[in-house]
Amino acid sequence: MAAMMKAFARQGKTNRPPLAVDVGCLVEQPRRHVWLQHRDGVIVHGPTGAGKTWRVAWQRVIDAPGFVLATTTKADLVAATLTERAARGRVAVFDPERLTGWPAGIAWSILAGCTDPDTAIRRADALARAMPLEGTRNGAYFEQKAATMLRCCLHAAALRELSIREVRVWVSARTNHTPVDILADTLPDWASELDQILSSASESSDDVLAAASRLLEPLASPTLLAAVDIPVEQSFDVAEFVLSGVNTLYLVSKGTSRSMAPFVAALATEVHHVADRASQRAPSKRLDPPVRLVLDEMNNVAPIPDLPQIMTDSGGKGIMVWAFAHNQDQNELRWGAEGGRVLAQSAPAMLVLPGLRGVEELSALSRLIGERRRWEASLHEGSRTYSLHDDTVLRADEIRELASDHALLIYRNAPAMLLSLPSVWEYAPWRHTVTASTRVFDDIVAGRRPPPRPEHSDPQRRREGGPGDE
Ligand SMILES: Nc1ncnc2c1ncn2[C@@H]1O[C@H](COP(=O)(O)OP(=O)(O)OP(=O)(O)O)[C@@H](O)[C@H]1O
Ligand SMILES: [Mg+2]
Repeated sequence: MAAMMKAFARQGKTNRPPLAVDVGCLVEQPRRHVWLQHRDGVIVHGPTGAGKTWRVAWQRVIDAPGFVLATTTKADLVAATLTERAARGRVAVFDPERLTGWPAGIAWSILAGCTDPDTAIRRADALARAMPLEGTRNGAYFEQKAATMLRCCLHAAALRELSIREVRVWVSARTNHTPVDILADTLPDWASELDQILSSASESSDDVLAAASRLLEPLASPTLLAAVDIPVEQSFDVAEFVLSGVNTLYLVSKGTSRSMAPFVAALATEVHHVADRASQRAPSKRLDPPVRLVLDEMNNVAPIPDLPQIMTDSGGKGIMVWAFAHNQDQNELRWGAEGGRVLAQSAPAMLVLPGLRGVEELSALSRLIGERRRWEASLHEGSRTYSLHDDTVLRADEIRELASDHALLIYRNAPAMLLSLPSVWEYAPWRHTVTASTRVFDDIVAGRRPPPRPEHSDPQRRREGGPGDE
């Protein structure tokens, strides 16, 4: 560790972009910084107000050396990082619910590329799996059937150059057999799968239709619809944006059940897919500079399918994931007991902020950190005797009561570390940056300043995105 820190100190003197991420300083040795490698996926747990945004997410957006995808439920992260990121590349905001007031939000056609069956499968999967499993009996079954239905409809609509509005009509009435007819020519197996769902009189088939139409329900609002219903050729080009510079894509949604969260999750999935494929074409099979996904409120806004696996295997591809959740119970509600456990345990690093309440999670963390052995001296009839004692390093209550600027880092096979994480409000240069950026953001929202354009200034460099790139 000491050698590693010296190496980083040397590297810092050469003005090269850092090859590692400075997470914070050790509480017991405030001058010693703790660095993570760019490959380390991190899961951050902290209740509301614990400092996820101002102690961790802001820093991770600012210090990313390459493309950043940042998801959020509020305008705060966008406003606070805007100018720094816009100075280094292009910024784009996907805010279908208009939560930020950003005047130049991008529109992304959910049908772009869906003429390719694999793309339709991926989009439908992301949409269907963005529905929380909580409390649904046979949730996995309905999720899978809703995905089947959506993939058929998305593909059929794309083949006929129809709009997502058409898809909404199709999934709301089982009497409409248009998508089956469209698919019959090209993919008869898909046509028969869809026909089976539509023509089955069973109750479960009703539930599948209900689940699919619930997903598309937000599109009843013309404002929300506008963000995902545009001609494919005018749609936001995901691959071009992700792969051409130090750009930043913000995805904003409230993440509630009637929000556009499934569409936000589908776009986040697309970004990961584009980065993943590009990494396999890169010379060393990894992206350089790495792409960073800062997934605030991951369970509600960015439930990318297979996130647990992505946390484990993305590091080697140059895709760094920082995923933020409130606690382990929230993960298990979202991903199921097994998925939630895998998610928390598969991340190479875990950062625990103060104020967690779940007794089980706190006790499990305390047990994981383990015990410390110490000798205790005692006097007995004038002679000193020594005995070994095992003390819990951090009790559950001590983890809950961590000081508000502290966090617990559990990293691979290293002993647990207590870090001090300064908030942007406590460190003057950061505070000035945030205040200045927020002022610019407010000016743009109020129309006093033009927004930066998400498109490339050189039209020659805008590539046509084929289905494989989408
Ligand atoms: N403008 C500000 N000046 C000083 N302190 C602030 C300011 N805005 C927020 N804070 C403080 O920063 C702390 C951390 O808030 P932060 O928004 O980072 O929490 P969070 O974990 O992201 O919460 P949430 O889940 O609600 O987004 C809060 O306790 C809040 O009081
Ligand atoms: Mg926050």
